[in-house]
Amino acid sequence: MASTEKRKVIEARHLQKTFGDFTAVEDVSFELHGGECLGLLGPNGAGKTSTVRMVYGFSPMTSGSLHIFGKDMRAHWRDIKYGIGVCQQENNLDPDLTVLQNLEVFASYFDIPRKEAARHALELLEFMGLEHRVDSRVTELSGGMMRRVVIARALINRPELLILDEPTTGLDPQSRHQVWDRLELLRSQGLSILLTTHYMDEAARLCDRLIIIDRGKVLVEGPPSSLVKEHVGRDVVEVREPGRELRGLVMELGLRHEDLEHRMIIYGSEEDRLFDRFSSIYCGGNCLLRTATLEDVFLVLTGRELRE
Ligand SMILES: Nc1ncnc2c1ncn2[C@@H]1O[C@H](COP(=O)(O)OP(=O)(O)O)[C@@H](O)[C@H]1O
Ligand SMILES: [Mg+2]
Repeated sequence: MASTEKRKVIEARHLQKTFGDFTAVEDVSFELHGGECLGLLGPNGAGKTSTVRMVYGFSPMTSGSLHIFGKDMRAHWRDIKYGIGVCQQENNLDPDLTVLQNLEVFASYFDIPRKEAARHALELLEFMGLEHRVDSRVTELSGGMMRRVVIARALINRPELLILDEPTTGLDPQSRHQVWDRLELLRSQGLSILLTTHYMDEAARLCDRLIIIDRGKVLVEGPPSSLVKEHVGRDVVEVREPGRELRGLVMELGLRHEDLEHRMIIYGSEEDRLFDRFSSIYCGGNCLLRTATLEDVFLVLTGRELRE
């Protein structure tokens, strides 16, 4: 339904978060519409967690305004929280409880009757492929299983909005794909999703729209494919040990590029015919042509220095 799609699930304006003199989030604004998956993408320390913590009411905003489901967060937090499911970055399952008990205890915070809670918890655990582990202690589970329990737990109150902070960080490839598959299914069922990630493949696969943030500010916003087209183009040529002539031509043609001394990365559109132009004449076997990706956008916008 078009009208539902347009509904603003989150409207965040000029969010700011300071810790003493340090500003973790300087100015972040965004909207999330019903049924959409919006990704907050950014390097370590960009302010992703600080932003989503304000959105799910874990940490108060220093300034800015936040409306969720059309309601002002400051005035209606109690109502709003009933419609949100949250997977925090760190695993916060209760290690003394079984998988099922973790969900049941959580359900009690939402005043869900016990019988209904148990039934729904089992359904959700099955949905997350954990039906064989309902009675296991949480400490016996693998990292991937724990993450799936956290997601199942976040769904116990049948939220309209699911917020996930780095849902697959640290998981092995099989577990990541399994989580992605479930999140895609949830999205196709109409759930609105806000997620943070620093994995480009995750962002490109799951998100309808992305906001790239760094140092507490929004750098760019748009659908993954538009961001790639707009900020890097279609083709990328990487040249090992570029020579003077090649550098000269790149400058002369005014092509977007990065010169990393021992490697040069040149960005262009289809019409630039980068590979034809460069490969035979200037770089022998040292040229690699590939399609531009979100990772190129990310590195172009946030730079290459390490963020530890
Ligand atoms: N409670 C806190 N006190 C002081 N600084 C914090 C606190 N939480 C986060 N920060 C700092 O704020 C910045 C943004 O952190 P965070 O939001 O966790 O980034 P991200 O999730 O994008 O990696 C980092 O420099 C971090 O060290
Ligand atoms: Mg974080």
